[in-house]
Amino acid sequence: MVKFILNNQTIQTDLPAGTTVLDFVRYDKNLKGTKIGCREGDCGACTVLVGELNKDSVKYRSMTSCLMPIANAHCKHIVTIEGINKPNNELTKVQQAIVDAGGTQCGFCTVGFVMSLTGFCIDETEKSGAMAISSIDGNICRCTGYKSIERAAERVSCQLSVAGSQRNQLEVAIEKDFVPAYFSHIKEMLVEIKGIDRQPITDHRQLFVGGGTDLYVQRYDEMVYAPAENLFDNSDLRGIKKNGEFIEIGASATVTDLLVSPVIQSIFPNLYKHLKLVSSTPIRNMATLAGNFVNASPIGDMTIWFLALDALVIFNNEREIRLSELYLGYKTLAKTDDEFIKTIRFRKEVQHFNFEKVSKRTCLDISSVNSAISLKTENNKILEAHVSAGGVAPIPLYLKKTSAFLRGKEINDATISQANDILQTEISPISDVRGSESYKRLLLRQLFTAHFVELFQNKLCVFSVPQR
Ligand SMILES: Cc1cc2nc3c(=O)[nH]c(=O)nc-3n(C[C@H](O)[C@H](O)[C@H](O)COP(=O)(O)OP(=O)(O)OC[C@H]3O[C@@H](n4cnc5c(N)ncnc54)[C@H](O)[C@@H]3O)c2cc1C
Ligand code: FES
Ligand code: FES
Repeated sequence: MVKFILNNQTIQTDLPAGTTVLDFVRYDKNLKGTKIGCREGDCGACTVLVGELNKDSVKYRSMTSCLMPIANAHCKHIVTIEGINKPNNELTKVQQAIVDAGGTQCGFCTVGFVMSLTGFCIDETEKSGAMAISSIDGNICRCTGYKSIERAAERVSCQLSVAGSQRNQLEVAIEKDFVPAYFSHIKEMLVEIKGIDRQPITDHRQLFVGGGTDLYVQRYDEMVYAPAENLFDNSDLRGIKKNGEFIEIGASATVTDLLVSPVIQSIFPNLYKHLKLVSSTPIRNMATLAGNFVNASPIGDMTIWFLALDALVIFNNEREIRLSELYLGYKTLAKTDDEFIKTIRFRKEVQHFNFEKVSKRTCLDISSVNSAISLKTENNKILEAHVSAGGVAPIPLYLKKTSAFLRGKEINDATISQANDILQTEISPISDVRGSESYKRLLLRQLFTAHFVELFQNKLCVFSVPQR
């Protein structure tokens, strides 16, 4: 049994916990405002808002309902377009802004844009035009073009920043009529259903599900009835904390959890610049770190990120291994079927870190090649180095020889050039739709150089690095 608040009503269902929220709202509840486009998390037509109790408030995130199992809705507030529509065909402020800016034609994508922008109105992000536009990075429109939709987003952000800044954003949004008044009772309604156990559908669980953003794309048909254990809301697998010289992250932390974490922000000054290259806002709101690691894609962005931090993964049975030791071969992992990742741990002292990604589109695209580096230096000398690269082998790579070579070297053009030569011996890219073998080799060479340009620009004369 799954119990949650759908718009303004508490409901429960005995449907299989793997049913998607999209299918539930459209076919079980006949709420047809939420659209089906790609069913792969790409188009944003199915976007809903998901509210969750967070200390003494409700935290809202946009999510793609096509990839979200109803198990992950348990004890939460799910908001569809019907839950923010006003009576008597009046428009909400977000809808009005889209109309005023000429941001809709056929209207198929519009619901998704309205939901994402409404999510922006009630989440904790800065209420700037740039952040409003960024909140719709997971929505695709085939016919209007984006400039008018961006103008609508800017209008919404202007209205909000006038509306007030220091107060609880949800209260401001309710008061200024961006969301209906019933939102103010949701916290009490969530408290009432908090802690109700969801009955598992089977005792023979064989599959772990995080945010579902890989599993529901790859195996949608079997996921509804799959005997799965949903780890997304497992409280032992959430949270980011300092523990002595380490940072410990619950395996079900999402990419957004990293983005908004003061602990992580204090370690990675370019966090937003780097993580906005990973998927889109609604996918980042669902995508867990463990899901990224265990999916074992050779180009998993978070995997590459944590490989360069020389992170450890800790399983439910307390077994601990380096992340780099998890990958034995293409999608073959050093873990048993009943082991799941509980915690990710890395040293909190990160002196120089950089992440680079090249993809066909800047936003909402997977990498052709990606790379990360973490360095500890003193007086222009490298004391410690960890380099990783994706898209250049059957597994996400920790570049062992390159990292070892860098230790003890001066930071200069010659070091970078020699390290680049070693790096080329560690990779084995293949030609595919994302580029030829030689292109990927060149890309990694450039990304590796880019790390040093980003981190030590004033010490280098990189244009003299020989190109191949
Ligand atoms: C539109 C779209 C864009 C995307 N863009 C990117 C991108 O730019 N970069 C990128 O790297 N990825 C991208 N992805 C892929 C995906 O979002 C990530 O890999 C994500 O981190 C997967 O996490 P999840 O929690 O959703 O995984 P799930 O789908 O829930 O699970 C994936 C795998 O991990 C296993 N698993 C989950 N949690 C655990 C655990 N705690 N212990 C053990 N096993 C576990 C599952 O059994 C499954 O095998 C994109 C996906 C979509 C749909
Ligand atoms: S239907 Fe396209 S993102 Fe869900
Ligand atoms: S208005 Fe037609 S797809 Fe966006």
